Amino acid sequence: MPLVNMRDMLNHARRHGYAVAALDVVSLDFLEGVIRAAENCCAPVIVSLAESHFEHYDFELLMAAAVAACRRSSAPLALHLDHGTSLDCAVTAIRLGCNGVMVDGSTLPLSDNLTLTKAVVDMAHACGVVVEGELGYVPGVEGEDAEKHPGEVAYTTPGEAKGFVERTGVDALAVSIGTVHGRMRSKPELDFRRLADIAEVVDIPLVIHGGTGLSDDQFRKLIALGVAKINYYTALADAAALSILDAAEGKPRAGYTALTRGVRDAVRQEAERVIRLFGGSGRASEVLAQCRPRREVVHLILFNATGDAEAMMAKGRRLLGAIPGVRRVSTGHALTEGARYRHCWLIRFADPAVIEGYKHHPDHVAFANGDFRPMASDRLTIDYALD
Ligand code: 13P
Repeated sequence: MPLVNMRDMLNHARRHGYAVAALDVVSLDFLEGVIRAAENCCAPVIVSLAESHFEHYDFELLMAAAVAACRRSSAPLALHLDHGTSLDCAVTAIRLGCNGVMVDGSTLPLSDNLTLTKAVVDMAHACGVVVEGELGYVPGVEGEDAEKHPGEVAYTTPGEAKGFVERTGVDALAVSIGTVHGRMRSKPELDFRRLADIAEVVDIPLVIHGGTGLSDDQFRKLIALGVAKINYYTALADAAALSILDAAEGKPRAGYTALTRGVRDAVRQEAERVIRLFGGSGRASEVLAQCRPRREVVHLILFNATGDAEAMMAKGRRLLGAIPGVRRVSTGHALTEGARYRHCWLIRFADPAVIEGYKHHPDHVAFANGDFRPMASDRLTIDYALD
């Protein structure tokens, strides 16, 4: 199943009065548990990878697994960077296969948050990728990695939210109305009045971070007021940890696979619970029918070269591979003697939208005019949308 356009997915949820669960994954067990839950519930789900967790796994390797897992899944999914803190991180996430990115400038002064978010939106939209921004601040209390969100809550104000959305062009907005990342120490007081006022002036899907610990009623009320995406992680991590602790009980010599055997299922169960609670179950076929699939492009160039083609291609792989929206640059040589073209470039773009920006990107222009074209006047170029 291809990834589904995340803007279409969130708009579908908003129109139909449910929220998509955005579930952070930190290992293969989490990834498999979350995707199995989406399939069992026939629900759209956002598979999220948070920058604050990158110290626990290799982003590139887990993304490769996530792309493969999404491709073979029957559920409509999006792959999302959670809490990205820089333009570079967003570029990397898109290169690795994310079709949504969050830019979290919530710890910055408002003007810096605006500047960073706008830069990420300009880059990501040119790559056909959806952006979630955050305004206000959702702190962490306790639980895994809650310390990565230190400090006090800063509530989002409706006026600032309106201006922020207009000036940045974000596709979804995370707001702060009293939730916290991690476990709750007491039942949180949510400012539903504030949420309703924000929803009144902001015409894009709203996002709630810090889903763990909210009551079923609170979730229902959030969704009724226009929340279309709910981020949820700590309860999945706690379910996984509990499964390991249970497996370890009375077995000090238990091995790694014996200890972790139940993790995937523990994550799946908790993920299924919230997917159903948020109203996403049974929506898969409507979402697949109504939302655009992600479509990647291969920019193919067949060519003959004079001079040192190897050095030129090595330079091109390095330079062109860093342009936003480029997923991979490969070069190749014909296997048959006497082939019409001896060499090729296979440049994979995240989306058809990348073609224009790539063409005019200064690194491409300099390489094409200064290195490639003078050596390769005999060439053929075609863009293919991948099925
Ligand atoms: P919880 O860990 O509180 O569920 O929050 C998750 C989150 O908001 C990730 O962005």
